[in-house]
Amino acid sequence: SYNGLALTPPMGFNDWYQYRCGITEDIMLETARSLVSNGLAKLGYNYVNLDDCWMATTRSSDGELQADPTRFPHGIKWLADQIHAMGLKLGIYESIGTVTCQKLPGSYGHYQQDADTFASWGIDLLKFDYCGVASGTDPSADYEEMSQALLATGRPIVYSGEAPIAAHNANPSDPKYLPLISLSSKISNMWRVAPDLTTDFNATVFGHLQEDLPLADYAHPGAWNDLDMLAIGNPKFDWTVAEQQVQMSIWAELASPLLVSTDLTNMSAATKQILSNKDVIAVDQDRLGEQGRLITQDGPVSIVSKPLANGDVAVLLVNTSSAAQQVTTTASAAGLPHAAAYAVRDLWAHTTRESAGVIATTVPPEGATLYRVSPLHGQVGWYPPLTDLATTP
Ligand code: GLA
Repeated sequence: SYNGLALTPPMGFNDWYQYRCGITEDIMLETARSLVSNGLAKLGYNYVNLDDCWMATTRSSDGELQADPTRFPHGIKWLADQIHAMGLKLGIYESIGTVTCQKLPGSYGHYQQDADTFASWGIDLLKFDYCGVASGTDPSADYEEMSQALLATGRPIVYSGEAPIAAHNANPSDPKYLPLISLSSKISNMWRVAPDLTTDFNATVFGHLQEDLPLADYAHPGAWNDLDMLAIGNPKFDWTVAEQQVQMSIWAELASPLLVSTDLTNMSAATKQILSNKDVIAVDQDRLGEQGRLITQDGPVSIVSKPLANGDVAVLLVNTSSAAQQVTTTASAAGLPHAAAYAVRDLWAHTTRESAGVIATTVPPEGATLYRVSPLHGQVGWYPPLTDLATTP
C-alpha cells in the first residue's frame, strides 16, 4: 500500500443514502455510539464517514473550510475528538473541483490547505469526489496532487476517490476509465468503479458485479475497487432480506469496502444479523487481499472464486434470472489443490457438507450462494470452526 493504510477493505458507516444533506453532528455521534453498543465496531466497522453537506456555504476569510454552523455547531475537530474517544475513526468528504456534488465549496485551488485542515482536525479518511469539474477534463494530475497533499500532512489518512467512475459516468466507453483505475490503485486506497446505487436491486447490485469482475487485478492490500455503500437496512431501498444478503455476499467476494448507509441507531434484527455475519466479513477482510475472479459465466449464472490466506477459497454462485438455476462447479475449477475431500460451508445457512470435489446447488431466482470451501487433508469428517478462520480486524 502506497501509504501503509487500509490493508483490508475499510469498514464502517457513511451517512449519505440515509441522511443526505440533513446530516448533523448529533446523528454522527449517535451512529458512532450505536456502532460500539451494537457490537459492529468490534467486528471491524470502525470508520464513521461524513459525506457531502458537512461544510458551510463559504470558506473563512483565510480560505479555510468550515463546518455548517447549524448542523455542526461544535465543528469537525470536536466531532473527531468525540469519535476517537469511542475508539472509532472519522472520515470526511470533499470534491476535486470548484464545488461538491451539492454545490458547496470544492477543494480546487486549496488541496494542500484542505489536507492540512483535515489533518489538524484529526480526520482519518478522505472521500474525494469528482464534481465541479468541466466535463472531459482529465482528472489524473489533480487526483494525484491531493494524494501527495495528504501524504505531506504526515497524518495517516485513507484516500478514497471517485475519478474512475466519474469518467465512466460521463461516457461508458471513456478510454480514461482503466488508466484512472490503474492510477487509483497506486495513489489511493479505494476508488469507485460503479455509479451511485439505485433502488433497483437487480440493475444496481448485479450491474455493479459485472462492472467490477474484470477489475480484479487492480485490487491488493491497501488498494480496493469500491462498489459503493451497503444499502442493507435502508428503508428507501426496500430490498428483501435475501437481496440484502446478496449485496453483502457480492461486496465481500469482491473485497469491496463495507460502508453501510442506514440508520444504525434503530436497526432491525435482520439488518444486524446480515451486517454481523463474521464468516462473510472474514471473506471481505481476508488478509491475502485478493478480489474474487470470475471462473464461469453461463447465461444468468456467474461463478466467482476468491483465494483466502489459509488456503481455502470463497466461492460465490450468482443467478441473475427470475428462475432458480441448478449450478455446478468443482473445487479444482475454484482453484483448490487436490485433496481427499472438501468441506463446503454455506456462509448464510451456516451448514457444512463434505464433498469429494463437486460444488453444486440450486441458486434461487435473482439470488446468490456463498461458500467457503476448505481442502481436508487427513481430517475428513472434522472441520475447523468457521469463526476461528475469521480475520480479527
Ligand atoms: C456523488 C457521490 C455520492 C455522494 C454524493 C454527495 O453522487 O457518488 O457517493 O458522495 O455525490 O453529493
